[in-house]
Amino acid sequence: MEKSSGKKNTAVLISGRGSNLRSLIKYSKTKKSLIKIVLVVSDNFSAKGLDYANKSKINNSFIQYSNRKIFEDRLLKLLKKNNVDLICLAGFMKILSGSFIKKFCKPILNIHPSLLPKYKGLNTHNRAVQNKDKFSGATVHIVNEKLDSGRIILQKKVKILRSDTVRSLEKKVLKIEHKIYPKAIIRLLTSF
Ligand code: GAR
Repeated sequence: MEKSSGKKNTAVLISGRGSNLRSLIKYSKTKKSLIKIVLVVSDNFSAKGLDYANKSKINNSFIQYSNRKIFEDRLLKLLKKNNVDLICLAGFMKILSGSFIKKFCKPILNIHPSLLPKYKGLNTHNRAVQNKDKFSGATVHIVNEKLDSGRIILQKKVKILRSDTVRSLEKKVLKIEHKIYPKAIIRLLTSF
């Protein structure tokens, strides 16, 4: 915990584009933010999100994912060094082990592009469009050892129109992801 401001020291884990990271950085810079992003970690050297972290002068690291154990050990060291109280997965495409979750022992949040428990895993928009669903959406949940299955903190729906494609649905859902992730953090941190 950062002593002077009372904000939770937060690490954001990414694998790619980093638009959710960008929205979290934006939120963290607001006066009332409950978090301070102290670390960004990517398992992908070329993740665009690392550029945002650099531009925002946030400490960031690439950790090679050669195997899960080595990755998680290095990650745990970095989290400890930076006194991290909260992890936000933001388009982080690897699965964290139960042992890592236990060892970290503080909340880990994930954002997922579907109305969980529907469509865990990958290709959520494709499945929603193929199945002619009327709604899709995004979910922020606590990470546990089962894929996309932890306690739901916040969820928001979007309508799927007949004219929607996988691409247009992804765009719509992403827009609401950027709104609900900061709200879910506030909900989590004020619910004790
Ligand atoms: C987001 O849609 C996020 O919900 C999804 O990856 C995208 C990352 O975009 N995450 C998952 O599918 C995790 N299973 P971003 O890099 O622009 O934030």
